[in-house]
Amino acid sequence: MAKIINVGTLISGGGSNLQAIIDACMAGSVDARILFTGSDTFGAKGLERARKADIDTFVVDYGDIIQSCKQGIDDRRVPPDFDLGDILEKQQLVIGDSSSDVSKEKIKFFLKSRAIAEKKLLDHILSYEIDLLVLAGFMRVLTPYFIDRLNTVEGQFKIMNIHPALLPSFPGTDGYGDTFRYGCKIGGCTVHFVDYGEDTGPIIGQKAFEIEVGDTLDDVKRKGLEKEWELYPACIQKFAESL
Ligand code: GAR
Repeated sequence: MAKIINVGTLISGGGSNLQAIIDACMAGSVDARILFTGSDTFGAKGLERARKADIDTFVVDYGDIIQSCKQGIDDRRVPPDFDLGDILEKQQLVIGDSSSDVSKEKIKFFLKSRAIAEKKLLDHILSYEIDLLVLAGFMRVLTPYFIDRLNTVEGQFKIMNIHPALLPSFPGTDGYGDTFRYGCKIGGCTVHFVDYGEDTGPIIGQKAFEIEVGDTLDDVKRKGLEKEWELYPACIQKFAESL
């Protein structure tokens, strides 16, 4: 048996992956305990799953923060340890063509507004001692500002994500939709560590399924989620055993 690791989770939606991880921890097939579930929206239904399992919850309302930044960002709201030059150099998120002044301003707006939200997330997260942060359907891109404050040991990744496609195909926000619309005959899901790009970090595990003639997008999502519920706990266990 591996040592019991402390895990934090972030969600945005229904939390069926969170539920699979909670169940696996309870069943003892994953040597982990979940200390908290955070969300970027009060509307995340999965928060209720966490509460039912006696897991602490918190919300950082990204929508509200981003909206309030649109009137202009007062630099006093930006975290004091936010180093724009360093983050611009590190970030590999695709945010348009950065050659024009307009695009540069957009990128700065993106990074600053997200750092304001990420600092609030960190205030919650760093009050716990976690070995691993699990993104279980968290629909926000994390910037180097956030990542560097969790990945404090060179070469050791501490943030895991699940993506609804067989990476490196179909990164982005609609993996199953993109797989289906492309006409793929095989779909799948991927668990990977989070690095400075969007869905680009080292792959930990993948599971595939067949897309049959007549399958709808809903069928693809259903088949995919069933694979995710097996894959995510197994990858967390692999991580626990590696410590
Ligand atoms: C899952 O399909 C997961 O792969 C996807 O969101 C869904 C969450 O479902 N994640 C992403 O697209 C991350 N970019 P759940 O809330 O029922 O676990």
